[in-house]
Amino acid sequence: MKNPKNILITGASSGLGAALALQYAAPGVQLFLQGRNAQRLHAVAQSCETRGAHVSSACLDVVDASSLSNWIKACDEQAPLDLIIANAGISAGTGGRAGEPASQVRRLFSTNIDGVINTLYPALPAMISRGRGQLAIISSLAGIRALPSSPAYSASKACVRYFGEALRGSLRGSGVAVSVVCPGYIRTPMTDVNRFPMPFLMSAEKAALTIAKGLEKGRTRIGFPRRLYWPLWWLSCLSPRITDPFFDRLPAKSGGD
Ligand SMILES: NC(=O)c1ccc[n+]([C@@H]2O[C@H](COP(=O)([O-])OP(=O)(O)OC[C@H]3O[C@@H](n4cnc5c(N)ncnc54)[C@H](OP(=O)(O)O)[C@@H]3O)[C@@H](O)[C@H]2O)c1
Repeated sequence: MKNPKNILITGASSGLGAALALQYAAPGVQLFLQGRNAQRLHAVAQSCETRGAHVSSACLDVVDASSLSNWIKACDEQAPLDLIIANAGISAGTGGRAGEPASQVRRLFSTNIDGVINTLYPALPAMISRGRGQLAIISSLAGIRALPSSPAYSASKACVRYFGEALRGSLRGSGVAVSVVCPGYIRTPMTDVNRFPMPFLMSAEKAALTIAKGLEKGRTRIGFPRRLYWPLWWLSCLSPRITDPFFDRLPAKSGGD
């Protein structure tokens, strides 16, 4: 969609979500921003207002389906949403342990999968009845080829990628477009904890610009940087029997629990 005016972004209090909010902030734009940390969310909202946008923000947990739904429906009634970006997410790895604790797996699944569904569905019927709207799901390159260092994170990102790509097809003709975003490493608080080299690490501002350009073109899958996306895509086409030894050598990602 070109020049979306009414935009809702989850996880806007930090990292990529904050950079996306600033990317879209401009006169005539209404931003609805969500996060949990009130102080950081307020700071992002203020920066967006400085750029001329109208901003309304809410401190909510994306796992709380009912509260999130009430807020999103109220946003849509106030200003019919053009674009919803389901960005909020968490990450954790095995920390080099054998497997991840079940509690960590469930926490990642509920935030990264349920959180996305809770974000996309409340305004979808209204978008369909208007015959207009765009949904963006922030997945990851870890959703292209599973990383043994972070099984639950990889699985959650593959799940929302598959879901988004299928949803795009099922909504074809309705006027509602779906794009799935698969970024590589972005410099944010999420990756600041990583103690290993991150190839082609990019700034959140550059990632937000790439995403906004891809969404404007209505691309199905926005995978970047291409230098990392294509090798991972090719590796995902090969049998895990052949590629596992390579992925087994990658460094461990710190655990969350
Ligand atoms: N950084 C990367 O290299 C990278 C690469 C590929 C994909 N991604 C994806 O990009 C998205 C943004 O990540 P980031 O790097 O910007 O991380 P980040 O700086 O840690 O930001 C995560 C955002 O999600 C919000 N959030 C997390 N859990 C939430 C919950 N239960 N309810 C509501 N909000 C919640 C956080 O809100 P509060 O801080 O206010 O709690 C924060 O605004 C994630 O989906 C991540 O998986 C990141």
